[in-house]
Amino acid sequence: MKNEQIYLDHAATTPLRKEVLDSMMPFLETDFGNPSALYQQGQIARKAVDESRELMGGILGARVGEIVITSGGTESDNAAIKSSALAMRNFGNHIITSQIEHEAVLNSCEQLIDFGFDITFLPVDCQGFINTEDLIKEIRSETVLISLMMANNEIGTIQPIKDISQKIKLESQKIGHQIIFHTDAVQCVGSLDVDFRDLEVDLLSLSAHKFQGPRGVGALLIKRNTPFLPLMTGGGQERDRRSGTENVAGIVGMAKALQLSNVNKDLVNKNLIVLRDRIIKGVLNSVEGSVLNGHPTQRLPNNANFSFESVEGEPILLGLDFAGISASSGSACSASVNKPSHVLLAIGRSNELAQSALRVTLGPSNTEEEVEYFLKTLPEIINKLKSMPSLQKS
Ligand SMILES: Cc1ncc(COP(=O)(O)O)c(C=O)c1O
Repeated sequence: MKNEQIYLDHAATTPLRKEVLDSMMPFLETDFGNPSALYQQGQIARKAVDESRELMGGILGARVGEIVITSGGTESDNAAIKSSALAMRNFGNHIITSQIEHEAVLNSCEQLIDFGFDITFLPVDCQGFINTEDLIKEIRSETVLISLMMANNEIGTIQPIKDISQKIKLESQKIGHQIIFHTDAVQCVGSLDVDFRDLEVDLLSLSAHKFQGPRGVGALLIKRNTPFLPLMTGGGQERDRRSGTENVAGIVGMAKALQLSNVNKDLVNKNLIVLRDRIIKGVLNSVEGSVLNGHPTQRLPNNANFSFESVEGEPILLGLDFAGISASSGSACSASVNKPSHVLLAIGRSNELAQSALRVTLGPSNTEEEVEYFLKTLPEIINKLKSMPSLQKS
């Protein structure tokens, strides 16, 4: 085993940057005031929250009033789906989403079935793309909400959200009421260029711990005048859309992390793509029976995802861990319950291949040397597993 673990699971979470921690510390120690308080400590905290919101708005193309702070991607997705569907229920009860969304979206939609909503789970093609024409065909007069992710957390496929959004707008004019369009951009913010205004979506989810910010804080961007029934009611914070005393240190850290991730983004992505493509080529060439999941290039710069014939996914991950490499099978949820990935099943992989997934997600600090070590280690592990009949797939 190597002394230092090589971290190749940046889609799951990322290490907190030192500068981000430093920016947060005063609000965990001395400047602990409640931003709603009128005295000085409160006003210091209020100023920090306001400035963080302005900073985020500038980077994300959103007005300060359009940024609602949440506890992370899961809450943002839950609020996006439930708050908008419930606010629109007088116009209809139909929601469209895709089969490859994160569980936070899928389970929120499923929960709404009990409240009388009808959900269409759109299929995707073998690389994870939505067919926009099929999407448009599913729109009916009762459709009130569409939720499609910007990039998939398992296979990295990037959807043309702006194009989809413009087509939805035309359909919404035909049926005579708004169709709210939400995109889960949790895997994109901090990595791709995400401009809320330019994307023309109504709701957008993001989460700080995906871009080297703190865990437990995120945001939902809500376009002005979008119908929204708050899930959290109470003191009226976040302009009545999400009550609760603000997580000041978290908000400051999120804004700082976003600012830092924006510096040299193109260069960072260029380097990530080189390493990602080296991994893709290296694995496909050296592991017999390996297949790439997702599109070869229209994928997140840091994401590679493979399935392997004749070997289970879990022993591969354990073998990698033992060799000093942290990687994953896909989403955190499916990893812990060891069931085939719903995303891989949706792109047409067999149960067997959907259960042997390996997701490698890079970060800015990963090096060529680490990638070469991974590429040397993986085939050794797989060959070893193949020679152990009890660990082969039946
Ligand atoms: C696409 C996507 N949406 C939502 C989430 C949930 O975000 P959080 O961990 O901040 O709750 C994740 C986390 O993996 C994600 O990848």
